[in-house]
Amino acid sequence: MSFREQPAPPARPNRCQLFGPGSRPAIFEKMAASAADVINLDLEDSVAPDDKETARRNVIEAIGDIDWGNKTLSVRINGLDTPFWYRDVVELLENASERLDQIMIPKVGNAADIYAVDALVTAVERAKGRAKRIGIEVIIETAAGIAHVEEIAAASPRLQAMSLGAADFAASMGMQTTGIGGTQENYYMLHDGQKYWADPWHWPMAAIVAACRTHGVLPVDGPFGDFSDDEGFLAQARRAATLGMVGKWAIHPKQVALANQVFTPSPEQVAEAREILAAMEKAKAEGAGAAVYKGRLVDLASIRQAEVIVRQAEMIGG
Ligand code: COA
Ligand code: MG
Repeated sequence: MSFREQPAPPARPNRCQLFGPGSRPAIFEKMAASAADVINLDLEDSVAPDDKETARRNVIEAIGDIDWGNKTLSVRINGLDTPFWYRDVVELLENASERLDQIMIPKVGNAADIYAVDALVTAVERAKGRAKRIGIEVIIETAAGIAHVEEIAAASPRLQAMSLGAADFAASMGMQTTGIGGTQENYYMLHDGQKYWADPWHWPMAAIVAACRTHGVLPVDGPFGDFSDDEGFLAQARRAATLGMVGKWAIHPKQVALANQVFTPSPEQVAEAREILAAMEKAKAEGAGAAVYKGRLVDLASIRQAEVIVRQAEMIGG
């Protein structure tokens, strides 16, 4: 254990990030009315090249005009390998109202990518006298991104959240997969002639969580493409939550309730966590460091595990 204390991530709910193309302003009001904690207006891959400028204008207007309530409002800019990204940053920061909370950088490959955007953001903020400091969130969705995940997590005090982008990640890694996230037909173990499916996203998810927890950043699971498969979405989201992620994207409004369900600790989970804390209080009063709760060992580590659930529930409850 290092003497350094693990930094706390931003204390705001991030159970669901709802995406919508910046070129489709007709759905912005619906996004604002949704139950998602975070809204991501997209300028990147859901917007065709010819629509980039119109989408930018739509998004800038909507940031000021629409009532986004208390949601975190984020805009996904284009990648640093495109000719679009610098105008995305400059035009957003020069013209969008201070309601904008953060920008999302896709396909980050190393800490210098974030440094470059941070430098540009900082210059425009100073030039325009913007009072509110814009946050940054990133997507890990390339081989370079996962190889440099820790330096990326440490790259800027502006960094708020980090998502896994399964489809681009699979493409960059050369994985033989189709679909966006979820179970892959050919990723199985064979035992006694029986197939047991494993999780091909486990490693990048766990690596992202470790980098994020080390540097006080929120780890988030990205998109699940098949929005007609609720059970598949729930299974993916539950694995992400079990590994320490705090939320998941929705690429269709029907996925918002599913994500909120998984990433809100249930009353039963919270009650059990509180009982464990109470059992440990009692043990402490009796001078013991460990106790028995429902026939199993609980000790000081159990306090820390239970506190994760109680803190999460309290934050979401307001
Ligand atoms: N946010 C809020 N509302 C949305 C929405 C979104 N992302 N996508 C669709 N809706 C609305 C529709 O307008 C429709 O509203 P209505 O009942 O008032 O008519 C309702 O939800 C049902 O929509 P549906 O017909 O099932 O979907 P669609 O064919 O209109 O759109 C997608 C489907 C996938 C194209 C669309 O959801 C979408 O663009 N998603 C985001 C894609 C994205 O941003 N990708 C980048 C990140 S990976
Ligand atoms: Mg992508």
